[in-house]
Amino acid sequence: MMDTLEKLRETLDQCDEIILNGLLMRNRIVEEIMAYKEGHGLQILQPEQEAKQVRWLEQALKGKRHQREVRDVFTCIRDNSKRIQARRLFDYNIVLIGFMGTGKSTISRYLSTMFAMEVIEMDQVIAEREGMSISDIFEVHGEQYFRDAETALLIEMQSKKNMVISCGGGTPMRACNVAEMKKNGRVVLLNARPETIYERVKDNHDRPLIENNKNVPFITELMEKRREKYQAAADIIIQTDGKDRLEICEELVWRLLEMDEKENR
Ligand code: S3P
Repeated sequence: MMDTLEKLRETLDQCDEIILNGLLMRNRIVEEIMAYKEGHGLQILQPEQEAKQVRWLEQALKGKRHQREVRDVFTCIRDNSKRIQARRLFDYNIVLIGFMGTGKSTISRYLSTMFAMEVIEMDQVIAEREGMSISDIFEVHGEQYFRDAETALLIEMQSKKNMVISCGGGTPMRACNVAEMKKNGRVVLLNARPETIYERVKDNHDRPLIENNKNVPFITELMEKRREKYQAAADIIIQTDGKDRLEICEELVWRLLEMDEKENR
């Protein structure tokens, strides 16, 4: 005769099987949804859909036990679904370049929320490793030292896939950096008008190259000096003025998909 413990374990195994089958089905559907959106030119990013799922869960959890644990599992399921969709869309790194204040960090964060992709914020990683701010690195070690750290970090990124790499504004100025970016990444140039950039950077004090020249003519001149290299590095260019992060990311995804399609033709 089967004892109580054995019976409980058997029931638990049955639960796991239900969860497993549910997850396998869910993952398949998630892939089908992405294929359908792609195939029909529908909006890829639909944050309101996730908000709806979260609301549904909160409603369903009312009065139930172990709410925190269940919520935790569902967060994990949603993140993994996003990863599955992201891998379907891009099997490379997305490298964001552009002048200071063009929105590289904002867009990286948003892409990471939408696709559960890991983000490398180059300035932040370098500052953390050096244990000082970007301004202090420039002051203590000089610009060349900082530029070498950027190159080293990009080389390190070669072993990664499906990441968002948010570069510093000056990173694409070195040809070898651009070569590293392109090895397993698509390079997206974010662009904005000098006036827009001025508005975005005017209250920040960790941009040593413009700290003492925060004005539209100086920004225009430095942008002009860099324009050729930015454009040469870019696989796609996105104008960001007057657009919100959802519009920018949606455009970015479609432009990358179009590029893949052209290459695979
Ligand atoms: C720089 C841009 C900065 C930072 C450093 C130098 C540049 O990055 O890397 O201050 O040369 O344009 P952000 O574009 O993220 O501000």
